[in-house]
Formats: sequence, structure tokens, C-alpha cells
Amino acid sequence: MTVVGVDVGGTGIKAGLVDTDTGALVGERIRVLTPEGGAPEAVIAEIARVVGMLGADGPIGVGLPGPLSAGRLMMMANLDPSWIGLFAQEMIATATGREVILVNDADAAGLAEMRFGAGAGCHGVVLMLTLGTGIGSALFVDGHLVPNTEFGHIEVRGKDGEDRAAPSVRERKGLSWAAWVERLNEYIDHIDKLVWPDRIILGGGVSKNPEKFMPMVRARPPIVTATLQNNAGIVGSALRVAETLSSRSAPQP
Ligand code: BGC
Repeated sequence: MTVVGVDVGGTGIKAGLVDTDTGALVGERIRVLTPEGGAPEAVIAEIARVVGMLGADGPIGVGLPGPLSAGRLMMMANLDPSWIGLFAQEMIATATGREVILVNDADAAGLAEMRFGAGAGCHGVVLMLTLGTGIGSALFVDGHLVPNTEFGHIEVRGKDGEDRAAPSVRERKGLSWAAWVERLNEYIDHIDKLVWPDRIILGGGVSKNPEKFMPMVRARPPIVTATLQNNAGIVGSALRVAETLSSRSAPQP
């Protein structure tokens, strides 16, 4: 099936029509800037605009940068805090006129990598980290997602991990790649000591340029770069829709 996936980040909103059997984008990928400040009304209006530009009908999957429970955001670090507690699912459905299935953005990226990318066929405990404006995490146990892990907020040196080790911090502070990777290595080591994953996948915007940092990354478990790169969030949001629809049509016990 083909499904529209939308990936909402602190910097950009990306969307595309996804063939959920192959993970390929059908037609163009759209990227617009996240409205300054990230207020819900403005972001939702942009989501509606990009969905309108894609034109296909049917339910849409939307990846949002915060933990979700029953269609609401429970916390928000990289968009306006007024998202917290909002019935985002309902609001986006009203604005787009579509059924909306929400998923955490990093969970979406992880779903896509586990199915079509660097995690395909991997068993055991796999941790995907998305490195962008913030740091997102998606944890898989034998291919099953444990949703809403928020490892970007693990404390390192008394600070939120993402406030020390996200690529946006490197840019903001003008750090060299080597200085940033030192922070990243320390951050990964903290998570490793809590989770002991069998494999780590690094995704997000920086995974487009792995040569800049991967040779300096040191971690106990095998660590690889994501292969779907910036499309993972779009693809995974669409996959979430396909999964939800197929679980609805499965025979009930
Ligand atoms: C949020 C996560 C999100 C990550 C990447 C963090 O600040 O708390 O939910 O996955 O940023 O966008």
C-alpha cells in the first residue's frame, strides 16, 4: 500500500508518499522549515499544507518529536512547550481532514531502519539513536519496538544528554567534529551502561556525512550508520499506519 508519512522535527517538516512494502518514496519528497518557535497551530497548518501538496488520500502517519500517549504529547523539548498535553492527533486530523496515526519521530525512524535499513534481520537488543536538533531513541527487542524511550534526556555531567551531544550543539557552539564526537562517545557510553544493546544504529541528519565523525566514534557494541538517512522518519511514520491498519483487520481472539 502507499501511505503519506510526515516527519516533524525542530528544524524541518518532511513528508512523502511511501510504498510500505518496499520502503521506497513514490514521487517527490517535500521539506519545509518548521515555523519559528514551533507553536502547535503554526506547525499543524504546515503539516496540512504539505499533506495537501502530496495529494494522496487515506490515513496519514505523523512523527512528532516527543513521547506520546493516547494521541497526546507528554513532553516537548524542541518545539513550543504548549504542545504538552494537547490532543495533537485530533487537531491534525481536523486540520488535514484525514485519519491521523501519531508516532514518536525516533520510533518512526527506528521502525524504518529495522525493516528496510541497518537493522534489517537483527535480533537481540538494537538501539537506534537519531542525531539532529535533539537526540531521539528507539529501542527494539527481537525486532519489537519498546515505544517512547527518551534516552536523549539521560543526564551527562549534570545536563540533558542532547544538550551536550546533539549535532545542533556542535553547530551552535562552533565545536570541531573531534570535540563533538568526544561528547557523543561519552553520551553513548552512559546509555550503554544502562541498556547494554547488542547493536547501535546512528541516524538523523548527520548520518548523511558519516565520514566526518564515524571514524572517531568509539563504543563497546557494534555501531553502524543508518542507511535510510533523512527519509527514515517519513518511511517509519507511514509504516506505523500500515501496521495499525493490519492489526485492526486481523481476526480478534
Ligand atoms: C524528544 C524525543 C525526540 C528527539 C528527536 C527529543 O528532545 O524528547 O521525543 O525523539 O528529541 O527529535
